[in-house]
Amino acid sequence: MQLSPLQSRLAASVIATCLLALFYFALFTPHFALAVHLEQTLPVPFLVDDLDVALRLDDKDGSTPQYEPDFLAFDRSIIGRAPPGVTSLVNNAPVPMNVIAGTTQLFVFEASTIFGESASLELRTDNKRSQEAEFEHSKATDTADERTVQAEEVMRRRTKTVYISANTCEQPQPIDPSKTTENPPQLTLFVSTSFKNRSPGPLADPNTQHVVEFTEGAVMYNLTASSDVYFGIHAPNVSRSFSGTYNFQVATSTDGWFHSFDPDAEADLIWVDSDSQGALLITPNLTISTDPSVTDALMQKEPYVMFAQNIQDRSINGLRYSYCGLSNYAQIATTKNGKFTNLVSTSMTRRGPGGLPKQQFYFSGLNSSSTYEGILARIGRSGQSGTDVPGGGGHIFRAMNFTTKSDHGNCQIILNLPFCDQVAYSVPANPTKFANATLLAQFYDSYASSMFDNFKKVLQQIPCEVPASQRYSLARNCTDCEAAYKTWLCSVTIPRCEDFSSTGAFLQPRNIKQPFPNGEVLDAEIVASFPDEKAYTSSRNPRIDEVVQPGPYKEVLPCDDLCYNLVQSCHPAMQFSCPLPGKLGFNTSYGRRTEEDDDGQVTCNYPGSAHVFSGVGRARISWVLWFMGTFGAVAASLLPQL
Ligand SMILES: *[C@@H]1O[C@H](CO)[C@@H](O)[C@H](O)[C@H]1NC(C)=O
Ligand SMILES: *[C@@H]1O[C@H](CO)[C@@H](O)[C@H](O)[C@H]1NC(C)=O
Ligand SMILES: *[C@@H]1O[C@H](CO)[C@@H](O)[C@H](O)[C@H]1NC(C)=O
Ligand SMILES: *[C@@H]1O[C@H](CO)[C@@H](O)[C@H](O)[C@H]1NC(C)=O
Ligand SMILES: *[C@@H]1O[C@H](CO)[C@@H](O)[C@H](O)[C@H]1NC(C)=O
Ligand SMILES: *[C@@H]1O[C@H](CO)[C@@H](O)[C@H](O)[C@H]1NC(C)=O
Ligand SMILES: *[C@@H]1O[C@H](CO)[C@@H](O)[C@H](O)[C@H]1NC(C)=O
Ligand SMILES: *[C@@H]1O[C@H](CO)[C@@H](O)[C@H](O)[C@H]1NC(C)=O
Repeated sequence: MQLSPLQSRLAASVIATCLLALFYFALFTPHFALAVHLEQTLPVPFLVDDLDVALRLDDKDGSTPQYEPDFLAFDRSIIGRAPPGVTSLVNNAPVPMNVIAGTTQLFVFEASTIFGESASLELRTDNKRSQEAEFEHSKATDTADERTVQAEEVMRRRTKTVYISANTCEQPQPIDPSKTTENPPQLTLFVSTSFKNRSPGPLADPNTQHVVEFTEGAVMYNLTASSDVYFGIHAPNVSRSFSGTYNFQVATSTDGWFHSFDPDAEADLIWVDSDSQGALLITPNLTISTDPSVTDALMQKEPYVMFAQNIQDRSINGLRYSYCGLSNYAQIATTKNGKFTNLVSTSMTRRGPGGLPKQQFYFSGLNSSSTYEGILARIGRSGQSGTDVPGGGGHIFRAMNFTTKSDHGNCQIILNLPFCDQVAYSVPANPTKFANATLLAQFYDSYASSMFDNFKKVLQQIPCEVPASQRYSLARNCTDCEAAYKTWLCSVTIPRCEDFSSTGAFLQPRNIKQPFPNGEVLDAEIVASFPDEKAYTSSRNPRIDEVVQPGPYKEVLPCDDLCYNLVQSCHPAMQFSCPLPGKLGFNTSYGRRTEEDDDGQVTCNYPGSAHVFSGVGRARISWVLWFMGTFGAVAASLLPQL
């Protein structure tokens, strides 16, 4: 059949009209159904996604009081803010909140915040553009299928890892602490990414949420988010033996955990030594770099804080992984607003082998013969805390225990000595003779320093500046000899002190006949059980007995390798020698490093020695033992007493 131009135009327009009508019904009919179903006008005119409408219609549980369109490609920021009663969180901004036992606090981390406002604006304009395209039917090339694919594509592109973390800052306290033995129960986190469950909690559908109970006052949960993340923090009912509410701090981040803890890591804290009122703890090397620009920068700030708690005190139970909980409840804290900050001081030091930066914590005012739990923490990635700082809520490391010495008070920690700069341990002491550790340190340090002056005079007579072929050793020179002598001198003139009641076989009893500073004396029986020899009845250096008068104590002997190193480093003319293991004098003069697991005991004293517990890497040196000659005139004048 031949059609006239007019007829063909009519046919074309009829076909076009039919197609148009089909299109129109295909696109808009469900909307009429939806409008009827909801008996209200739709808030926005471009609700065109069949898929979403279908999902909406399925949502018949009526749990959502007001209609809020929720689309794959649209985020809530277009439509509105968080529903009432739900707190909207932003990146790395902690929110403090109380929660009464038996209730849940609700939060949302909105997609607009997760992906950034600019991303959502971009999406919005994309959507507007596609709507305009749809209304221009003649130009419309999209089909519903294509649009769905596009929306999914956008969604797939838009995923991010979201980190949710919270710390319990306060918890209900026992009404009668003497009767209550249990701890208050932990809070619980409920997380949902389903728009069907925007009130995660104990009453919501378990299939639409993840449940994580807090551990020691902290929770960490991460997920891959493509839309809003809803979560609730629920406080359980607590028994009547407790009163008070829970207070927590919650934060969401796309950068990493704002609050974190690592209970499986090695304790990042090294217990160096303690006395009857205090303890010295130190971090490992904060860098392995020897570049001065790196180490100097590290020395400028103190990146760690520390909490300490007598293990008899239960106030931090249930809060050990919570930075803000520890700040509120720990007995001693180095945080700015912590309790008893006067009992602890912290500083950076380069002491120890390698001379690399470390942070030290020096506690005073502790109870004697007590065990304390030390907890190391770090704030922020760069030591900064607070809002907008990734990790600003703090990181908690594994705890470690340390004990204080007995109340005889005749061992006292000294540190920061001008000459013996490697000394930082307990030394024989007497509080009635030396009012404080500074004065005691001065006594030991000036003595060692005066001995060293004598040595320098001797060293000047040794030919150092001779051609290499004539030197006494190709490997060592006078600088090495001086360093070896100083290390050895400081450890023999400043003995490392342990309680007389300590039982380690490696400990040498000293000064057993002198009274303790408080006037007590050892039982005659105990005194009689030791040989009546100078090694037992006096100190290594008699000046200690005369001036300090510490009474009976036990000495952690210097490591024998310090002596061998001295012999190896110095000119034979100086005639240094060391006693032989197994021979007379060795057992009462030197200790030996043990290879086996010594359970954190310091079996001999060397610069940087500390109570290192098994598992933590430690530098071990195996020594080829060699020595020479007998005591010469020079050695005798230099060795205080071996
Ligand atoms: C959560 O974090 C852990 C380690 O930080 C990672 O192995 C895991 O893949 C993350 N999970 C998600 C869903 O991103
Ligand atoms: C908590 O206590 C409230 C009020 O006493 C009670 O209605 C609720 O069932 C309790 N919840 C649990 C989990 O025991
Ligand atoms: C620090 O580094 C030095 C040199 O690398 C090493 O000998 C020492 O054992 C380290 N100290 C600690 C506590 O890790
Ligand atoms: C020391 O002991 C007393 C009594 O047992 C206790 O009240 C106090 O909290 C303890 N102090 C420290 C720092 O452990
Ligand atoms: C510290 O000592 C207490 C009591 O002996 C013990 O329960 C706890 O596990 C110890 N902590 C560590 C880190 O060893
Ligand atoms: C130690 O005691 C001396 C003398 O009493 C005093 O001058 C000094 O300030 C004290 N040092 C400290 C750190 O308390
Ligand atoms: C000794 O040797 C070290 C290197 O082993 C060198 O740095 C130092 O300058 C030497 N000292 C003298 C006095 O020659
Ligand atoms: C030194 O101590 C070791 C083990 O501690 C012992 O076997 C040896 O007999 C002692 N030697 C002397 C001379 O006392």
